[in-house]
Amino acid sequence: MAAPILTTTSTPSPNPLALIAGDMRVLDQVIAERLDTSVALIGQISRYIIAAGGKRLRPALVLLTAGALGVDSADKYKLAAVVELIHTATLLHDDVVDESTLRRGRATANETFGNPASVLVGDFLHTRSFQMMVEVGSLPILKVLSDATNVIAEGEVMQLINTHDADLTEEGYLHVIRSKTAKLFEASAQIAAQLAQASPEVEAACATYGQALGTAFQIIDDVLDYDGNTQEMGKNLGDDLREGKNTLPLIIAMQRANAEDAALIRQAIEQGSTEQLPAILSIIRATGALDATREAAHQEALRAIDALRTLPGNTHTQAMEQLASQLLLRRT
Ligand code: IPE
Ligand code: IPE
Ligand code: MG
Ligand code: MG
Repeated sequence: MAAPILTTTSTPSPNPLALIAGDMRVLDQVIAERLDTSVALIGQISRYIIAAGGKRLRPALVLLTAGALGVDSADKYKLAAVVELIHTATLLHDDVVDESTLRRGRATANETFGNPASVLVGDFLHTRSFQMMVEVGSLPILKVLSDATNVIAEGEVMQLINTHDADLTEEGYLHVIRSKTAKLFEASAQIAAQLAQASPEVEAACATYGQALGTAFQIIDDVLDYDGNTQEMGKNLGDDLREGKNTLPLIIAMQRANAEDAALIRQAIEQGSTEQLPAILSIIRATGALDATREAAHQEALRAIDALRTLPGNTHTQAMEQLASQLLLRRT
């Protein structure tokens, strides 16, 4: 299971999602069908954000895990749609909270339709996802998904409380990202295992894989806020500092920098100011904080790959392994 993590190669890497390309088309159909409503504004806003695409990683995780465990029930498409709707609802709310103006390469829904409509349509998508998960008729799956949505909400509120806190520890940071982001990845893999009626060991391994993958994903997202490209990411960068959001690159840079440089970062977090962004970027780079943050994501990816050992070896689990290694190199 050794993977060429963090190495660059001149040959293009295989696309781990190619295996489920057909499944992803069915997913798109299911999502489109389930946006039905008699309220035109809901249809307009939900199609606005959903048609912009997004990577569809969480439903891909449902479908890859379902494939790995041999599920052929059509419920897998419904559950894949459910997690994408939950994710989309959180994005609608998150962009209001973060006052973001760009998402998936286009103006955010809050920028285009206003905050009230974004919040309310987020609620519509959230509740539609619950209608759909009930249709699957499994209380254990319902429990995992309702617990996950609850934890995501806690994560977003904890992050709100941590705003402008320059003393946030690495542990505190990890607690937030495991809640706001990794939890839905964890649930995505776990519900596929439940659908497969997998053993408790396999179900736990799927949950671990999803949690570790989601943690690595968010850590890299936080790196890209300082080291990415707006066009590739489809959202504005430097936003974390503007919001006073303390993330791992800053936490590590403050630990490693001299007192004067650490104070500069502290002040920017406390004031939510990007005025010193160029200086802060040099400190982050000079202290090796970006590489150290990437290394933390690497460790999570290794943990994800390790969990796959409990799953059967097949093309789907191979794709899950590739997904974990390639995620570290993502630019989008
Ligand atoms: C954005 O998630 C929110 C984070 C957890 C960083 P994605 O980067 O998966 O968003 P889309 O769905 O591809 O737009
Ligand atoms: C995304 O969090 C929202 C959730 C995970 C619920 P962020 O605020 O960190 O992500 P972006 O940068 O807006 O995508
Ligand atoms: Mg945000
Ligand atoms: Mg946010």
